[in-house]
Amino acid sequence: MSESTPDTVVRTRRDGPVLVVAIDHPPVNALGQAVRAGLLAAIEQAGADAAVQALLIVGAGRTFIAGADIREFGKPPQPPALPDVCNRIEASGKIVIAAIHGPALGGGLEVALSAHYRLALPGARLGLPEVHLGLLPGAGGTQRAPRLMGVKAAAELMLSGRHLSAQDALAAGLVDRLADGADATAAGIAFASELLAAQTPVRRTRDIAIADRAAALAALDALAAETARQSRGLFSPLRIVDAVRAAVELPFDAGLARERALFVECLDSPQRAGLVHAFFAEREVAKIPEARAAAPRRVERIAVVGGGTMGAGIAVAALDAGLPVTMVERDAESIARGRANVAKVYDGLVAKGRLTADGKAAVLARYTPSTSYDDVRDADLVIEAVFEDIEVKKAVFRELDGVAKPGAVLATNTSYLDIDAIAAATARPQDVIGLHFFSPAHIMKLLEIVVPAKVGADVVATAFEFARRLRKTPVRAGVCDGFIGNRILAVYKQAADHLMEDGASPYEIDEAVRGFGFAMGPFQVTDLAGGDIGWATRKRRAATRDPKARYVEIADRICERGWFGQKTGRGFYLYPNGARTGQPDPEVLAIVDAERAKKGIVPRRFSADEIVRRYMAAMVNEGARVLEEGIALRPLDIDVTFLSGYGFPRWRGGPMKWADMQGLDKVLADIRAFAQEDPLFWQPAPLLEKLVAEGRSFDRLNRSA
Ligand code: 3HC
Ligand code: NAI
Repeated sequence: MSESTPDTVVRTRRDGPVLVVAIDHPPVNALGQAVRAGLLAAIEQAGADAAVQALLIVGAGRTFIAGADIREFGKPPQPPALPDVCNRIEASGKIVIAAIHGPALGGGLEVALSAHYRLALPGARLGLPEVHLGLLPGAGGTQRAPRLMGVKAAAELMLSGRHLSAQDALAAGLVDRLADGADATAAGIAFASELLAAQTPVRRTRDIAIADRAAALAALDALAAETARQSRGLFSPLRIVDAVRAAVELPFDAGLARERALFVECLDSPQRAGLVHAFFAEREVAKIPEARAAAPRRVERIAVVGGGTMGAGIAVAALDAGLPVTMVERDAESIARGRANVAKVYDGLVAKGRLTADGKAAVLARYTPSTSYDDVRDADLVIEAVFEDIEVKKAVFRELDGVAKPGAVLATNTSYLDIDAIAAATARPQDVIGLHFFSPAHIMKLLEIVVPAKVGADVVATAFEFARRLRKTPVRAGVCDGFIGNRILAVYKQAADHLMEDGASPYEIDEAVRGFGFAMGPFQVTDLAGGDIGWATRKRRAATRDPKARYVEIADRICERGWFGQKTGRGFYLYPNGARTGQPDPEVLAIVDAERAKKGIVPRRFSADEIVRRYMAAMVNEGARVLEEGIALRPLDIDVTFLSGYGFPRWRGGPMKWADMQGLDKVLADIRAFAQEDPLFWQPAPLLEKLVAEGRSFDRLNRSA
């Protein structure tokens, strides 16, 4: 790869009186040091050249400018700084026009806002998404956007991080004009010529006065209150409101200085590090050895076997991606239920006004219910989602082997079972793979792609391509009981059970885990998913459980009473009259007490901090085992699994990133301390010990993979 220098990444050429400044820094024209220097040089060149009367800034490729170069965050800053570049653009004595044909995001939009005039083409998308990275717009965006689009609208744009279309940006006042087509340079030159012909003067955003400051401040107060309620411990949103407030209260330059100070606070926050890690990790997960080794097979027709909770959700996910889906069930009654499960999702959308009746009919025209395996004959990909029973699954795969066309990919949605054994039930194990969706399958982003021993690389590549079409986040996992997510979940769930038996109530544990940033605690999750599911797994594992391992029976006592959670009106919590938020149940606490007494345990108190440390240490320790066994390719695959499938707080970056940020030595010291009480459960993972001994982090493994 050739080195980026200012003159290679920012090219200038003159077209009559217009200096065309083209940013050409693939893949997304991020504003790395060379681009910033190139832009500055272009402004100076224009200033020095009497023949130039206007500057036109455009982006090469599909993007205008994607923003600051996120890879530079956390490294020593290199001049010129982006705010200075933006100020120089705005200060130009010759008119500057930005012609936007693709994403203009973050610092990219800030460059455009410091131009004097803005033109948007149909593919333009304008936004200030810094909030998603734990930041705020730090190159004048918080000062210029309110001047152009109004204080409240600008603050909302920054707090939501959403993108505006060209039309919406025009309506909001962020751009001056729309143009057709995709050639930003031609459209920009035409616009520039028009402005020059009319002798239009420079128009600096900084000079625009903010109207009705009292109303603006009142709107910001209301937004701050709402943000404080909703942002669940997030650091940057309230700083965004503060920075916008500075635009109202302070002169422009003082406002910029305030913005900078707040930006640096955000930049230095651990939340920024966690969120930027999440951004890159979500892109890295798709980089797997099989995708480099083989091309995906064509997938045009899908079949789903089983129309229950998961089969219906998977069918909807595939229908939503525009694919035709055949669903096979056991008998007429079951397929009627499967069809109803699919239709129910679209009925919900129609009821909410998000889909028309015709739209629903058009989607369902691609859906074919069936009770005959013969109907999977044309499918390129068959996804099995029948009962979680290895014999039932093997029988289904034997059937599929008999009817599926050669080269069809045969996938199982099993949560825990041995996919090598399922593959062995067929004469074509090279075509068998795990596609582990999460419930509700048409909503949850995570798709664990489970790779058995004999599967072909092209089948793995096909699964990743399929995930991309479904807009899912794929994570490659190896075969073991529970793959990446459910395997680790089983262990930290045990840590929670131990805590409960030793003295913390399920409600205290849930509260501590929510305090860490999870949307729900483990006992709430059990109640939501249905306690019977975990109960069945525990019974299945009973025969192979180490008799010396600690086993907490509280959940079994609760399930024995038929208390399976929300669906039965009670579980760990009470849900009177179908309530969705549970209330603590004194009878559950009595069961907990009785179980403690039975084992002679004298309950002790746990602080929220200790609850979280145990919960997280169990998660990280098992994560390290999953890594050393090769079940996960890299620590980041575990992080993405938990971020997109288990409600892990995104701003903490995932469990392995969290461990790095704590210090692995600290996590290991905790594990060793907990091992004093239960050495079997708290055996440190050898990989964790090795990393600590070598002074390395999980992130180093991400980079060396
Ligand atoms: N800096 C560095 N790399 C970036 C980047 C950025 N701002 N944006 C994207 N990339 C990289 C991605 O990591 C990916 O790299 P890879 O190919 O090695 O994996 C590559 O560019 C392509 O990105 P996508 O896969 O996301 O491509 P898409 O076409 O799907 O999406 C996009 C393009 C809409 C521009 C999307 O990448 C995006 O949303 N990027 C981030 C935009 C953003 O958050 N900007 C604000 C940055 S912070 C800022 O500007 C601070 C300022 O206020 C001072
Ligand atoms: P479910 O009980 O809701 O649905 C199973 C369906 O399979 C039933 O409709 C049944 O009639 C059908 N079926 C059974 N045998 C069949 C056969 N031989 N041919 C055709 N259809 C048959 O179960 P659910 O929850 O949808 O689970 C299905 C699979 O998905 C299981 O392997 C489960 O472990 C897995 N899974 C479940 C998740 C969940 O949250 N429910 C999450 C992720 C995976």
